[in-house]
Amino acid sequence: MKNIYLETVDSTQNWAKAHLPELTDPFTCITALEQTAGRGRFNRPWLAPRGQNIYATVVFRVPRLCTYLANIGQMMAMACAELLQDRGIPAQLKWPNDILVQGKKIAGVLTESIPEESSIAILVGIGLNVNMDPALLRAISQPATSILELTGKTHDLAEVLQPLMGKFVSHLDLLKTAGFAPFHAKFETLLAFRGKTLTLRDGHQTLTGICQGITTGGYLKLLLPSGEVKIISSGEINYLSDL
Ligand code: BTN
Repeated sequence: MKNIYLETVDSTQNWAKAHLPELTDPFTCITALEQTAGRGRFNRPWLAPRGQNIYATVVFRVPRLCTYLANIGQMMAMACAELLQDRGIPAQLKWPNDILVQGKKIAGVLTESIPEESSIAILVGIGLNVNMDPALLRAISQPATSILELTGKTHDLAEVLQPLMGKFVSHLDLLKTAGFAPFHAKFETLLAFRGKTLTLRDGHQTLTGICQGITTGGYLKLLLPSGEVKIISSGEINYLSDL
């Protein structure tokens, strides 16, 4: 994997987009020491103070007829949750690809795709709170945590980033050949809010239902009050007690 280290950037996603034609290695990982306009899903701001956390975007290409596009972000989320679990942190996945510990967000994944002539460029961004200043953590509008808060120790960012990227690339390799099915059981064990009543917003509508887990394709199964089990391919869930 080619690594590009930036000091200050608005967003590693924006930087990757602006430099796409030059990023021709099979995988390029762009990290920044700080972001001045880090962004999350639904254009929310992502707090990225200097030197405290991981802010990274991985760039690669997939074929135009790609069947696993919706699962790519899930691979990064799984890699991150597994890495945290390996270090004794009980991470869970909030479908589709947030990483939570004890109900608080520790990392988020933003996947963007840009069609090119004969392929699709994929930009998978991850923000992982490693050594974040506790006062800044509290300033985040949602409940958030960091590795420092959970372990009481500061961690070397490179020692977290390197295995994370290794796991992500190996997951992606398997996803390409075998689809999501080999990840289904593990994802289910990491899944937060099973059996809980959730609301789902997908831009058009809000649904309420009970989380019944995920399909072998990585979609969310929501049991609606009508008795219908709805298969959800995108959107944002919220646990009702959080609202
Ligand atoms: C989310 O949970 O909404 C996704 C957060 C993604 C944040 C990362 S930090 C590195 C990359 N650059 C950005 O501007 N965003 C992503």
